[in-house]
Amino acid sequence: MKQQQQQIQDLKQHATMLLINPNIKLLWVLASLFLFGFGLALGTSLSTFYHSYIPFQTPSQSFPSPSPPPPPPSPSSPPPPSSMITHEEHIKPKEHVGLKEYIEPKEMMHDMNDEEILWRASMVPHKRVVPYERVPKVAFLFLTRGALTFAPLWEMFFKGHQGLYSIYVHADPSFHESTPKDSVFFGRRIPSKVVRWGELSMMEAERRLLANALLDFSNQRFILLSESCIPLFNFPTVYSYLINSTLSHVHSFDDPGPVGRGRYNKHMQPLILPEQWRKGSQWFEMDRNLAIEIVSDNKFFKLFSRHCKPSCYVDEHYLPTYVSMKFGGMNSNRSLTWVDWSYGGPHPVRVWRKSVTVEFLNKLRSGSTCSYNGGKTTVCFLFARKFLPNTLWRLMKFAPKVMGFGP
Ligand SMILES: *[C@@H]1O[C@H](CO)[C@@H](O)[C@H](O)[C@H]1NC(C)=O
Ligand SMILES: *[C@@H]1O[C@H](CO)[C@@H](O)[C@H](O)[C@H]1NC(C)=O
Repeated sequence: MKQQQQQIQDLKQHATMLLINPNIKLLWVLASLFLFGFGLALGTSLSTFYHSYIPFQTPSQSFPSPSPPPPPPSPSSPPPPSSMITHEEHIKPKEHVGLKEYIEPKEMMHDMNDEEILWRASMVPHKRVVPYERVPKVAFLFLTRGALTFAPLWEMFFKGHQGLYSIYVHADPSFHESTPKDSVFFGRRIPSKVVRWGELSMMEAERRLLANALLDFSNQRFILLSESCIPLFNFPTVYSYLINSTLSHVHSFDDPGPVGRGRYNKHMQPLILPEQWRKGSQWFEMDRNLAIEIVSDNKFFKLFSRHCKPSCYVDEHYLPTYVSMKFGGMNSNRSLTWVDWSYGGPHPVRVWRKSVTVEFLNKLRSGSTCSYNGGKTTVCFLFARKFLPNTLWRLMKFAPKVMGFGP
């Protein structure tokens, strides 16, 4: 209204001026023509910019907007990706948006880059009292290349325990196998990047997994697993062992040899001294507080990315060293994932079909002693690797009798 009144006012003024001086008339016509042309040019360039920007839009950003819809695609342009089909779901009005929608993301896929998600994941509630009944969950972080070989075993393991766990899968971006709708792995893939063995990208993927899992406020424990990992106990045992544990489990020890301290780079001084350098298996288990510290660290991670390059492996030294230096009191220093290093060399022994017997599994389950919450226990490993795909059917067969899950 105000604007219209202003325009009318302006027109009146122009009319008065024309009456006063007819010479101004010509000037005004010229000026109007110029402004019209300028407006046209601006409009055209803006719309060109707008349309060239469209292809970068992703489904989640495509909420209805007041601007006019873009023209239909020309015959030469590629067909819309299949993910566009889900548009309808996105633009449907939500029936209910409550606290749950803010503290437990439903969609695993998003457009945040690493820097953005690490920052988002580092957020901690300032208010201590939780206004809902928080049932702590265990986050299972699967760092894989392709298909999850042991998916049928894991399906059996998770069956009947919904609400107590969340699953996150970081797979190679080139991997495109579909997951059945009724699988516990369905829709659990997170935005992933290529991972190269022994390189920085491995540790980046681990932090990416942690960050994505931290977005769900109910996730209390975080366990990293590979496609060659298997569970050694049933879900209730694993759940109470982890939820009740007073410490995190990040393997960390001082190895004076060439593959331990020998990989230390003196450029890491003065932040890290040689005697503070640690080694350990990358397959961690940690609680929420430690996970938040890991995604929040810049200083140590930067130093490692600069000065720990093959034959120094970031995934074997960053967490063991950083956690021992800064959060040693929160760590058991042992790994919960059994592996056989008895042959030496850079890779552990691979477990094949014939090795999988009841005796063998029982040895992994209770064949050692360690401390747990201040006491002694024979349950030191909850998971094991590196199992070859051909062990699956034997494991499925033994699971009910030995591990206590399955039909
Ligand atoms: C933790 O330990 C306590 C005491 O032993 C037990 O009552 C409780 O059920 C355990 N919690 C879980 C989640 O298993
Ligand atoms: C683990 O190592 C840290 C230092 O590296 C030490 O402070 C801590 O006591 C160790 N934890 C256990 C349970 O031994």
